[in-house]
Amino acid sequence: MTSYSLGVLLFLVLLSFSLESQQLHGHSFKLSSEETGSYHVGAKGTRWAVLVAGSNGYENYRHQADVCHAYQLLRKGGLKDENIIVFMYDDIAFNVQNPRPGIIINRPQGEDVYEGVPKDYTGHNANVHNLYAVILANKTALTGGSGKVLDSGPEDHIFIYYTDHGSPGVLAMPYDDYVYANDLIDVLKKKHESNTFKSMVFYLEACESGSMFEGLLPEGLNIYATTAANAVENSFVTYCPDDYPHVAPEYDTCLGDLYSVSWMEDSDKHDLRTETLEQQYEVVRRRTSNEYPENGSHVMQYGNLSLRKKSLYDYLGTNPANENYTFMRHDSSTSISKPVSQHDADLLHFWHKFRKAPKGSEKKLEAQKQLIDELNQRLHIDHIMMFIAKLLFESENGLLMLETVRPAGQPLVDDWNCLKTLVRTYEEHCGSLSRYGMTYMRAIANMCNAGVKMEQMAMASAQACMGTTLIHAAPSTMN
Ligand SMILES: *[C@@H]1O[C@H](CO)[C@@H](O)[C@H](O)[C@H]1NC(C)=O
Ligand SMILES: *[C@@H]1O[C@H](CO)[C@@H](O)[C@H](O)[C@H]1NC(C)=O
Ligand SMILES: *[C@@H]1O[C@H](CO)[C@@H](O)[C@H](O)[C@H]1NC(C)=O
Ligand SMILES: *[C@@H]1O[C@H](CO)[C@@H](O)[C@H](O)[C@H]1NC(C)=O
Repeated sequence: MTSYSLGVLLFLVLLSFSLESQQLHGHSFKLSSEETGSYHVGAKGTRWAVLVAGSNGYENYRHQADVCHAYQLLRKGGLKDENIIVFMYDDIAFNVQNPRPGIIINRPQGEDVYEGVPKDYTGHNANVHNLYAVILANKTALTGGSGKVLDSGPEDHIFIYYTDHGSPGVLAMPYDDYVYANDLIDVLKKKHESNTFKSMVFYLEACESGSMFEGLLPEGLNIYATTAANAVENSFVTYCPDDYPHVAPEYDTCLGDLYSVSWMEDSDKHDLRTETLEQQYEVVRRRTSNEYPENGSHVMQYGNLSLRKKSLYDYLGTNPANENYTFMRHDSSTSISKPVSQHDADLLHFWHKFRKAPKGSEKKLEAQKQLIDELNQRLHIDHIMMFIAKLLFESENGLLMLETVRPAGQPLVDDWNCLKTLVRTYEEHCGSLSRYGMTYMRAIANMCNAGVKMEQMAMASAQACMGTTLIHAAPSTMN
């Protein structure tokens, strides 16, 4: 049971970070009208939004909670349901593990954010093909779902928000294939060519999310993007069980993601006509950095940075109830939260479930099994990847090479088809990479950059995975 002791060790480490967790305090500042300065002129066109939660499973509660929260924010801001398109697996609200059936919250003692959320693309319909079809407003390319698409015109403003697990060059979706960075960029270029928007803002939360745009998103598309992390670091989750032992003890899963709750809690309280994208970027950057680079992430900006001067109102609308709450510099709740990376949040959930379940109960056994399975799977994938690297490069240097990070501004890989082919080849022999295995995306990209061919990968994968019983998910789903 070495993996089990590893788990305990890991959790002792994780838990030791939690000692100084603090509660959040929302602050609102009231200003007299002469101090508020001039309002930015509002949007002429229609505001559209696409909201995407890329995961499923109760251990990933927070991603769907983020998306539901974003929906409520946009509705209060004045967007209509017909202009908000939601992708989420929808397995949280009525999950047997949810202590409050039918209710989803995005912060301790938060209000329900689930009510009224449109079920546009749920379950297996929440996939990458539908996402591209929605963005490009190509109804014939849709399979299932509500049929709502980004049917925008040249004067319209588009807001896209994605939250989930990512890895260098890819984002996960709850079902089917990944969102590869080059495909996403191609879709955005096509959208731009179709002259069906004036400007677009893309907020992206995922590990290594910077790698989706770095060196890839051209300036000339009228798109401004911010990401929760740079191209080489994790993004962080928040409102986790250890953060609030006295606040929401019935939850054994994290309720939000740090970058995501930062932009949403900032937007929730202000008159957004008075706040620019740039001002929000600063607020989110400060809160997400967690004040220490070791345990926070770097919020990044890409695309056309002149758009930063625009007000949030153009994309998110504004809640009339906030009309007297004007944005000011330094107007933000700086809070330190216990840093847990996206990658470890599922372990944290299984651990809490295990810890809380009564001794000898079925639930305890189940949680123990989940924890051990997850840790075993991780060790298994680590082992396979090292083996493949050794076979391909015939030396220990091969291992080092796989961790190579290209200079800032350069995309992860030059030949994206090679990356996709090698991933597919690996999965044919070894089963799904799974969420954890996604962390090896850079390693596989580096194999491409070093000229590894499909045949070599096939041979190495076949050898590395020969006779291994696959303990992880089936190839077509990513659990
Ligand atoms: C973050 O890292 C710094 C420096 O390593 C450490 O002093 C601090 O306690 C950490 N903060 C949290 C909340 O873990
Ligand atoms: C829409 O999708 C269909 C099916 O994938 C494709 O054949 C067609 O070319 C697409 N139309 C546009 C305008 O991109
Ligand atoms: C960036 O956006 C601004 C404001 O919309 C626009 O004037 C400028 O031409 C854009 N820059 C590029 C390179 O497209
Ligand atoms: C904002 O302040 C004005 C002036 O005091 C007041 O008339 C108005 O009702 C307030 N708006 C809200 C939403 O509280």
